[in-house]
Amino acid sequence: MRTTREMLSEYAVIIVTGGSSGIGKAFIEHVTKLDSRVVICNLSRSKPDGFIGQLNLRHVPVDLTNAAALAGAAATVLGLLNYDIPLGKIMLINNSGFGGYGRTDELARADQVEMIDLNVRAVVDLTARLLPALKAQGGTVVNIASTAAFQPTPFMATYGATKAFVLHWSLALGEDLRGSGVEVLAVCPGPTSTEFFRRAGLKQGAVTERWGQTGEEVVAEVFQALARGRRQVVTGWRNRLLAAVAARLPKPLAARLGAAVLAKFRMSRVAAPVAAPGDGPGGAV
Ligand SMILES: NC(=O)c1ccc[n+]([C@@H]2O[C@H](COP(=O)([O-])OP(=O)(O)OC[C@H]3O[C@@H](n4cnc5c(N)ncnc54)[C@H](OP(=O)(O)O)[C@@H]3O)[C@@H](O)[C@H]2O)c1
Repeated sequence: MRTTREMLSEYAVIIVTGGSSGIGKAFIEHVTKLDSRVVICNLSRSKPDGFIGQLNLRHVPVDLTNAAALAGAAATVLGLLNYDIPLGKIMLINNSGFGGYGRTDELARADQVEMIDLNVRAVVDLTARLLPALKAQGGTVVNIASTAAFQPTPFMATYGATKAFVLHWSLALGEDLRGSGVEVLAVCPGPTSTEFFRRAGLKQGAVTERWGQTGEEVVAEVFQALARGRRQVVTGWRNRLLAAVAARLPKPLAARLGAAVLAKFRMSRVAAPVAAPGDGPGGAV
């Protein structure tokens, strides 16, 4: 089996979305430590801090929920690939994403549509735009799904469904691209200590303190999975166990049990999200 360093040595560039924080930032740190030769191209709204002097980091500022901005950012990346980056394999890591906690009828309609735009539409759109380059140079698409993908997730209904999409889409894409020189890895982390919970409306550490992972631990497992040529990785042994059980339950039962477990997170809410008048899910979701 190749080491992660040997695997990474085949790549000229890592394109990552959401490298300004959490798991995405851990990807940049990991790659920088393992192989300072690899060019890292980050797509997010804010620039990743703490990488001053890192000559191989390119930041393309973009709000990926904006279709026109995404198209512009993809064109910029393709320009960099043509003129600025040596030839070699390309790794695309679709990592940007967010969730929201609360009953669907309490959550703002606009937030849920934005979640679908970022977690689903942007993943498909960016991948499709960069795929010709990946096929020409060889490479890997790494999509960050979640253990939320294995069962319905009451109180995070839209989020869990976006991640079920990412998991199934990634596995199917991997088969569509078999033999093309492009591999696809679906990553399913469980609770990880990042900004995710704060943005979802929960107290930081509410879920991660007892059995969460760090971004670094998640990324280390992703690179091991890549070195082994895996197509799916659930990070952390507790998450693997829970995902294996959840995936085998009848879906209505999994939803019922999920509701009982996820209802407890109410205690950790930072503030109850308020849906604007006419902003309920009946509007557009
Ligand atoms: N943390 C967990 O427990 C957990 C568990 C399973 C899966 N995940 C998944 O892991 C991925 C990374 O999340 P994280 O935990 O690292 O959370 P995080 O710390 O909140 O990071 C989210 C990243 O997404 C970027 N992002 C958010 N909105 C964006 C937009 N409109 N356009 C472009 N980029 C945007 C953010 O960058 P800017 O704000 O600078 O744009 C940030 O870098 C997500 O897909 C999440 O669903 C997380």
